[in-house]
Amino acid sequence: MSHSAPARPMTSRRSGPLTGEATVPGDKSISHRALILGALAVGETRITGLLEGEDVLDTAKAMRAFGAEVTQHGPGDWSVHGVGVGGFRSPEGVIDCGNSGTGVRLIMGAMATTDITATFTGDASLSRRPMARVTVPLAQLGARITAREGDRLPITIEGAADPVPLTYRTPVASAQIKSAILLAGLNVPGDTVVIESEPTRDHSERMLAGFGAEIRSETTDEGHRITLKGRPELRAQPVAVPRDPSSAAFPVAAALIVPGSHIRVPGVSRNPTRDGLYVTLLEMGADIAFENPREEGGEPVADLVVRHGPLKGVSVPAERAASMIDEFPILSVIASFAQGKTVMNGVAELRVKESDRIDAMARGLEANGVTVEETQDSMTVHGAASVAGGGQAVTHLDHRIAMSFMVLGLATENPVQIDDGNPITTSFPDFVPLMTRLGAQID
Ligand code: S3P
Repeated sequence: MSHSAPARPMTSRRSGPLTGEATVPGDKSISHRALILGALAVGETRITGLLEGEDVLDTAKAMRAFGAEVTQHGPGDWSVHGVGVGGFRSPEGVIDCGNSGTGVRLIMGAMATTDITATFTGDASLSRRPMARVTVPLAQLGARITAREGDRLPITIEGAADPVPLTYRTPVASAQIKSAILLAGLNVPGDTVVIESEPTRDHSERMLAGFGAEIRSETTDEGHRITLKGRPELRAQPVAVPRDPSSAAFPVAAALIVPGSHIRVPGVSRNPTRDGLYVTLLEMGADIAFENPREEGGEPVADLVVRHGPLKGVSVPAERAASMIDEFPILSVIASFAQGKTVMNGVAELRVKESDRIDAMARGLEANGVTVEETQDSMTVHGAASVAGGGQAVTHLDHRIAMSFMVLGLATENPVQIDDGNPITTSFPDFVPLMTRLGAQID
């Protein structure tokens, strides 16, 4: 997102039944990875369905700066001519990853084992987020890293000239940490091993295998163990990006809480490492059908058919957190309309996302008449048959907080306001027109 864009307040109002088809954008995680692996492969990687949100566009710009040729041919239709593993050059300028933790952490990994130097920066939100989680393992691989106080951006990395193999146990279940190490491991002689306590999204593993790397995942006594053989020749591949289940969650939530709604959301990824929200919603009694299950671009996808109906509160187990880590803000909105309380356990990571999402949701929900309890790593929302609304929520440069409160206001008694809708463009540029077409009142 542009660092200087003036704040854009937005309001959503109680709406009639939402109906029709919601075609959500391409998956953000897969879009970043397609550009980065395309840049590290030999030949042309053709990408269709790429998410053209600010986060991903920043990664495209970064890949150009490292020497890849990245071209847009039409909406969502891109090509990348890669430079091969170890072929990145030192960028001339600073790499600005904007709002994107995924972008900056994966790109730092991708360059850290090549003998080049790069400096990374980002917006005010990204500059507050912890980076030691990736700089510590990258230093163990041989990179030299200088960071601002507290291991925050800006960060300069001198890539390792002679990287050494690493076996690394991640301190928190994070696909960004895992992926940064695996991307670094591409240019390391020998095996790079990552062990995670809970399996996290596996798009990097799937795509690396698709591009010809030797990579295997196994469940061991120590946890989920991924082993990558270094210095493969990555071969350019076509990538068809499936639609993002995290973006689909917003129209799905809106249909679940607005009486009389009935919508269809086609072609959404049902990767089991991303499916936690949908598992939870079914437990809550949500009326969701998964039609035409099929495989697209190496990922399982289905068409979601969602109808409004009664929901009940549930307890979400900590082991499920990684598979729905981006969906807790919108789950807390849905939970506000469920009967009884919904408890979200093991969610401490929410405190270091684009904002402290527990704090942002709790304060915003309270301002709109919802009772919320929080601990350092849990959040409990007390549902009610009717929610007052009428309050303002602060979005803290966080797209998912902004969209969550715009969905809340579609079913509250009084309108809900956010201070700034600009962050929505990082992941879902068409959010407002798409929701409006379904019948949502957002302006
Ligand atoms: C992502 C991983 C998650 C998620 C982020 C995207 C990825 O972060 O929150 O939006 O593409 O790898 P963590 O892996 O740090 O939990």
